[in-house]
Amino acid sequence: MRTPIIAGNWKLNKTIDEALAFVRDLKPALSKAANVEIILAPPFTALSVLAEALTDSPVLLAGQNCYPEQGAFTGEISPRLLRDAGCDAVILGHSERRQLFGETGEFINRKIRAALKEELQVIFCVGETLRERQSNQTFKVLEEQLCEGLTDLDGTGMARLVVAYEPVWAIGTGQTASSEQAQEAHQFIRNLLASLFDRVVADNTRILYGGSVTPNNIAGLMAQPDIDGALVGGASLQAESFLQIAEFGKG
Ligand code: PGA
Repeated sequence: MRTPIIAGNWKLNKTIDEALAFVRDLKPALSKAANVEIILAPPFTALSVLAEALTDSPVLLAGQNCYPEQGAFTGEISPRLLRDAGCDAVILGHSERRQLFGETGEFINRKIRAALKEELQVIFCVGETLRERQSNQTFKVLEEQLCEGLTDLDGTGMARLVVAYEPVWAIGTGQTASSEQAQEAHQFIRNLLASLFDRVVADNTRILYGGSVTPNNIAGLMAQPDIDGALVGGASLQAESFLQIAEFGKG
């Protein structure tokens, strides 16, 4: 009922040539990964060339961030310009943005609303730090981040929004959440969506897991009822491992 999504977040990696080489390797093998939506989030500089290279393929493109306004904002990028460069989606609220660039829940909410207005699909990231998990704050943090990020959204906006649960302690550490830990958080998020919106919105919203996903752990994660895909960082940098993940490790 919910089409799974496998999204690759390249972060600040890959030149234009490297991005094109990845797509060349990925495209022929793509037919093997059926019934899954594949999204790539390259750096801004590679977006428009990849959009052209992917014109005859089902792969979608995402920006890794955006600013909620247009105009005199040196160094920023708007949802409208992401669309113009060929993007279908944008990742917002990533923990690296929250932690390294001081993004607040209120700011992330403004970005989400601006991106939805431009009809971009939004991959909205939430997740607790190790200290928060160890002090039993996980659900409280998830609730706060979701309530802030989703302020003033309605069912129409939610139809284009995907949540990514990314425990900060699992990102880039090689320490994945266990399938059970992830399922527990995903179920909590889905129930929270039901109380913030309604059951239909909760049941239709795709919730991705992110944090050290690899070809070896994807099958166990995808077997969980509330895990609808993955947001992949490190393992999305090689076409081969990304494809294995897109096939849920069955390769
Ligand atoms: P990782 O990154 O797969 O390298 O842990 C995930 C992410 O930050 O989205």
